[in-house]
Amino acid sequence: MPVRLMSRSSATRPYKWLAEYYDKVFTFHHEWFEAVHAKLLAPVMPKVSVACDLCCGTGATAVHLARQGIRTYAVDLSPGMCRATRAKAREAGVRVRVSRGDMREFTLPEPVDLITSECDAINHLPEAGDLPRVAAAVAAALRPGGWFFFDVNNRAAFDTVWQLNWWIDRGDVSVAMEGGSEGDRAWTDVHWFIREGGLWRRHEERVEEVCWPASEIKDVLRGAGFDRIRCWDAAPLLNNPMTRPGYRTFYLARKAKQ
Ligand SMILES: C[S@@+](CC[C@H](N)C(=O)[O-])C[C@H]1O[C@@H](n2cnc3c(N)ncnc32)[C@H](O)[C@@H]1O
Repeated sequence: MPVRLMSRSSATRPYKWLAEYYDKVFTFHHEWFEAVHAKLLAPVMPKVSVACDLCCGTGATAVHLARQGIRTYAVDLSPGMCRATRAKAREAGVRVRVSRGDMREFTLPEPVDLITSECDAINHLPEAGDLPRVAAAVAAALRPGGWFFFDVNNRAAFDTVWQLNWWIDRGDVSVAMEGGSEGDRAWTDVHWFIREGGLWRRHEERVEEVCWPASEIKDVLRGAGFDRIRCWDAAPLLNNPMTRPGYRTFYLARKAKQ
């Protein structure tokens, strides 16, 4: 299928249908991410008593943190995602303080020890040039010596898996995704099919991502006051055949102790 370029303004933000059906359709990655999270964060977790999951989606990571007895904040731009996180926390019987906010300018009521942002959430920025604002907002929300853990999709993923089309069928909810990319931008047109009695209702949504070379991400983190930066290629960690070497990177950055 030829790549179709659409104007950026066609992106649907914040996500509405994704918030409503995310947990029905995208169930497969949480287990992988939790395993990586446990492995890479093991050395810092003993010092974490307050944390925030940034771009929390439907709240899986926030609830996971809160279950460990960590005082947990969660931030997302999408009101639907915030609602879903509150509902998930209620159901799990844990407290998560959820607020709607933009990763480029969010603030928290107290300094936190750890900020996580998982499943390529940072790539969802409208412009690659917004990354320094995110790094600055994260640094401001962390205590000195606090940690920022996140993962990003790289250009190699945009050039390959983001070109593909996908179909996922979950009975009453089915989704067709048409992907494409050009340079440091990638997109997926998401066509939702929702069964309503004997009929199917169709909704449209677009997800867009931007990406950066690793050198730029590290420069931005250093510029925001992070003094220790580690990164890992995701391929050997995720054990998922769709994640080839170079596609995704996990980062763990420490805010300088001063
Ligand atoms: C791929 S989802 C990842 C969700 C979650 N972190 C997970 O692991 O399942 C990306 C999330 O980023 C949120 N998001 C996108 N742009 C944002 C922004 N500027 N500020 C805060 N959240 C944003 C979306 O609403 C969505 O919940």
